[in-house]
Amino acid sequence: MTDVPTRYLGELAVSAQGLGCMGMSHGYGATDDAQSIATLHRALDLGVTFLDTSDFYGFGHNEELIGRAVAGRRDEVVLATKFGFANRLGEPTSIRGDAAYVRQACEASLRRLGVDHIDLYYQHRVDPQVPIEETVGAMAELVRAGKVRHLGLSEAGARTVRRAHAVHPISALQSEWSLWTRDLEAEVAPVCRELGIGLVPFSPLGRGFLTGRYNSLDGLAETDVRRGQPRFADGNLERNLAIVAKLEELAAAKSVTAGQLALAWVQHRGEDVVPIPGTRRQRYLEENLAALDVELTPEDLAAIEAAAPAERIAGDRYDANSLTFVNG
Ligand SMILES: NC(=O)c1ccc[n+]([C@@H]2O[C@H](COP(=O)([O-])OP(=O)(O)OC[C@H]3O[C@@H](n4cnc5c(N)ncnc54)[C@H](OP(=O)(O)O)[C@@H]3O)[C@@H](O)[C@H]2O)c1
Repeated sequence: MTDVPTRYLGELAVSAQGLGCMGMSHGYGATDDAQSIATLHRALDLGVTFLDTSDFYGFGHNEELIGRAVAGRRDEVVLATKFGFANRLGEPTSIRGDAAYVRQACEASLRRLGVDHIDLYYQHRVDPQVPIEETVGAMAELVRAGKVRHLGLSEAGARTVRRAHAVHPISALQSEWSLWTRDLEAEVAPVCRELGIGLVPFSPLGRGFLTGRYNSLDGLAETDVRRGQPRFADGNLERNLAIVAKLEELAAAKSVTAGQLALAWVQHRGEDVVPIPGTRRQRYLEENLAALDVELTPEDLAAIEAAAPAERIAGDRYDANSLTFVNG
């Protein structure tokens, strides 16, 4: 493994691959803080210094966990967190982007993280009730107050990105982007590129599915959010496995894993792209990091894309309720 290169999200320098920390608190079954902290320390030691969290992940648990892990190493880390979900998991979705909420959420995140500033502060979902100018105006005040360094949006639509950027430079757009979710390529990514906004693909491994690790739901905890996601539903899951089988074949021909191939494909989307694969385990962290060394030719990229054509992906990426809050 060579040194982890640097990429830029707007003017923010980050490691070319980040670490998604959500699963350490939320969504993917049982968690183990000691294991997660060891993984976070290993990430920093290896040069993966761009950490992704949210106040929503474990309702503060994830930010507190990261705060503990980076205590004493703050200067090595680019900390990204998010605000916007005012509900708990399982409760009806409540998105808030009003100025008072933005200020209050930031204070709470700073306290839980145990830091005096956040490097990249994202709005997790656009609040349909509040003009984006109000939300980003409040976020810009946080920059002026020194509490936040750079601003980001997550799952914002192209028009919203433009309006937001007119209020204050947006450094990064974080949205789902992987071999089986390519929605943002048509409109949102071109607008980001025009405006110099970096792209942060979340769930770049298709929530783990593209690694070939899940042949059924059997190993998933009852509380695992993937049980409610259409692509993992009975019937769809079996159809989607055909895509993974093809990826595994292509990966074997290059002596890498299917997960590494899927990640390398995302890394090859451009110099302004910084995926944040999520894992709780050092073994996967190391495997994912090694994907930075996988070189793909135009022929490789075409073969990979041919293995996962949009019309063969069975099921939406989110349930019907969650879909109403993306591309906002
Ligand atoms: N902005 C948003 O709305 C939003 C939404 C979702 C996620 N995110 C962010 O994006 C990050 C990544 O997304 P994600 O965690 O949903 O999905 P992901 O990165 O596509 O996949 C994570 C899943 O894959 C497993 N995994 C990781 N590397 C693996 C490997 N090499 N081999 C086998 N399995 C592997 C993980 O298992 P283990 O955990 O067991 O290691 C976990 O179950 C999150 O952590 C979060 O920070 C943001």
